[in-house]
Amino acid sequence: MIRFQRRTALIAAALVTALPIHAFAANTIKVGIIAEMTGAFADFGQQMTTGAKAYMKEHGDTVAGKKIELIIKDVGGPAPDVSKRLAQELVVKDNVDFIAGFGLTPNALAVAPITTEAKKPTIIMNAATSIITTKSPYLTRVSMTLPQVTAPLGDWAFKNGIRKVYIAVADYGPGYDAEGAFKKSFTAAGGQIVDAVRMPLTNPDYGPFVQRIKDTKPDAVFVFVPAGESAVGFMKAYAERGLAAAGIKLIATGDMTDDGVIDALGNSAVGVITTHHYSAAHESPENKAFLAAYAAIDATHRPNFMAVGGYDAMAMIYSVVKQLNGNVDPDKAMALIKGMKIASPRGPIEIDAETRDVTQNVYVREVKRVNGKLYNVEFFTTPSVKDPGKEAK
Ligand code: PHB
Repeated sequence: MIRFQRRTALIAAALVTALPIHAFAANTIKVGIIAEMTGAFADFGQQMTTGAKAYMKEHGDTVAGKKIELIIKDVGGPAPDVSKRLAQELVVKDNVDFIAGFGLTPNALAVAPITTEAKKPTIIMNAATSIITTKSPYLTRVSMTLPQVTAPLGDWAFKNGIRKVYIAVADYGPGYDAEGAFKKSFTAAGGQIVDAVRMPLTNPDYGPFVQRIKDTKPDAVFVFVPAGESAVGFMKAYAERGLAAAGIKLIATGDMTDDGVIDALGNSAVGVITTHHYSAAHESPENKAFLAAYAAIDATHRPNFMAVGGYDAMAMIYSVVKQLNGNVDPDKAMALIKGMKIASPRGPIEIDAETRDVTQNVYVREVKRVNGKLYNVEFFTTPSVKDPGKEAK
């Protein structure tokens, strides 16, 4: 009996030494995604995760011999405490190599300390308050910042005869960023802000706000509300209260007319001018490939800028894993991310080496009917815009 045990132990030891080293390294790269999959902001999670899956469908799920695995966690809505707990779980239980996702700013900000402590490269797929990427050296962003997409609109508005603007924004980080950036570029051009209001993020009733705007009689109202249900709600109030008929133009960031809901906005959206980084109508081979890859997974919804964020985050991860030959070291990963260039469906993007934030073209667009469907048709480009939110510091 003893002899048998000794023999077994010897055989086991021989087997262990015979196994190649890499057999002990995990053969999967795990990407933990924290996203709003349910509730009023469920569109955000659906768009980001479908965009990520579209990239994997198009490029295969194996990189440098490692299988790429998504672990999707539902944060349910604006819930920083839940987001933090989910990030902890992804680090401790799932031992992920990357964290990604985040439609909403508060959910992204909540994970910054964990990102730093655990040294997890963390890629923001949407959340767009400027300050987010300053909160950890392991944070980067492939989406946009509100100051970045807003600033060109202030210039455009003044050049196009708008002189008096009422500002209406959602009452949280991205809203304050949009308000500040619009005020800065529009007044620098010579325009005047007649009033500004902050509206609730959750369960907003836009009617009374829109009525007050109408009574103030500005040339235009500049709006930032989160994409999806909030944008549909604001547009409905704008139409119902007759602002367009009263000569008050609606100008906004592209969150107002995002591709996920634009067709549901109906005729009241036609002619609305917005600035943003992505339109499904963008003409490029990269966008064509993206639209086809997305449709192969979900043929019933049109992808929006958040889907592009999911897709480009995976492009970033694939590039890092490939260059590190499948051995993801967090500091080496961040070094590769700094300065990385991606041929995105929106146009070329680059990760600023100093701020880890995205540099990209910002387009002025007009809502038009194309082949019977509403689209944001790009007509003016400000190239290679860095986040102006970082400059002030
Ligand atoms: C954000 O919370 O940062 C956010 C959410 C929705 C948007 C843009 C920004 O459309």
